[in-house]
Amino acid sequence: MGRRSEGAMIWRYSCIYSLLLFMLVGSSRAQLMASFYDKSCPKAQAIVKSVIQQAMQKDSRIGASLMRLHFHDCFVNGCDGSILLDDTSSFTGEKTAGPNLNSARGFDVVDNIKSQLESACKGTVSCADILAIAARDAVVLDGGPSWTVQLGRRDSTTASLSTANNDIPSPASTVSQLISKFQAKGLSTQDMVTLSGAHTIGQARCTSFSSRLYNFSGTGKPDPTIDKTFLATLQKQCPQGGNANQLQPLDLVTPTNFDNQYYKNLQARKGLLNSDEVLYSTSGTTNSLVISYAGNQNTFFSNFQSAIIKMGNISPLTGTKGQIRKNCRAVGS
Ligand code: HEM
Ligand SMILES: *[C@@H]1O[C@H](CO)[C@@H](O)[C@H](O)[C@H]1NC(C)=O
Repeated sequence: MGRRSEGAMIWRYSCIYSLLLFMLVGSSRAQLMASFYDKSCPKAQAIVKSVIQQAMQKDSRIGASLMRLHFHDCFVNGCDGSILLDDTSSFTGEKTAGPNLNSARGFDVVDNIKSQLESACKGTVSCADILAIAARDAVVLDGGPSWTVQLGRRDSTTASLSTANNDIPSPASTVSQLISKFQAKGLSTQDMVTLSGAHTIGQARCTSFSSRLYNFSGTGKPDPTIDKTFLATLQKQCPQGGNANQLQPLDLVTPTNFDNQYYKNLQARKGLLNSDEVLYSTSGTTNSLVISYAGNQNTFFSNFQSAIIKMGNISPLTGTKGQIRKNCRAVGS
């Protein structure tokens, strides 16, 4: 091969290489990235964290509530801020869906974060990204692991009440129902057990578990898997015909610490929701994972970091799709 054709060949290959590189870089524009606001809003993450820190001083539960908003957002048509939209006379949002009504909270804190972000960098940071950053900060401020939040989600112009009702799992779920609801979002059985560990913080209303206390699956008796002392406590806290909105900690031992105590509780038959309890009492993968996490907090933490990043990647709107809302509660405003 002569010099000249060798040169032509190198030129040709470098063209193909450039084309491939262009395609790669071009397509990665649709991906989330940690550096998304580095230039457009460098203070974004510091702002989110400081508002949450302040809110936590008044309400030790707020971190839990914010993390749950990220979950309920991502499970309904992807992480697009749809859960934050208010109902109006001409718009039906997700706030009245069964899993959210009288239960989803933290919207005022999201509003505070958003208004500070609008002052610092107008029309730049999406409401969906606020929830993703808030979920990470909530875990860290409650003593759990940190991770790098992928960013660049945009906000939806729609919401779906029926998808919220259908896709968010019920606390009465069996293991196979939980597995299939998570699988539908591209999350594995391991992700499901790991993410359920978020119930190491936060609270639930009596109505979310009281069927376990008195007439479990129509047997006329309590759920036989509940620890007897724990059952007596819960029956006292949630009497039949009592206040359905009365709250109980999801982790009775360390209710505001993000740790692996949730899994230890499950082993001790002190899981609050049926969907918690069955992870341990159903033999198989979920049971083995509960035992493993109860015995090793580091394994739980490291799997939680990857699982929540995976959850945060569910069908984001990127590029020019959707919008950046100015007010998280309303489309196009
Ligand atoms: C595995 C399926 C899940 C079911 C069936 C479920 C169900 C529930 C229920 C019924 C409550 C109490 C609601 C109330 O009574 O007001 C709750 C609270 C909570 N959930 Fe889940 N959840 C699941 C998974 C998750 C995941 C994946 C996360 C986050 C990664 C999460 C985070 C939370 C938090 C932090 C709370 C407490 C919220 C607060 O105190 O405001 N849950 N969940
Ligand atoms: C328990 O529930 C079943 C159906 O869900 C009902 O038929 C039965 O009467 C209930 N038993 C008691 C003791 O309330």
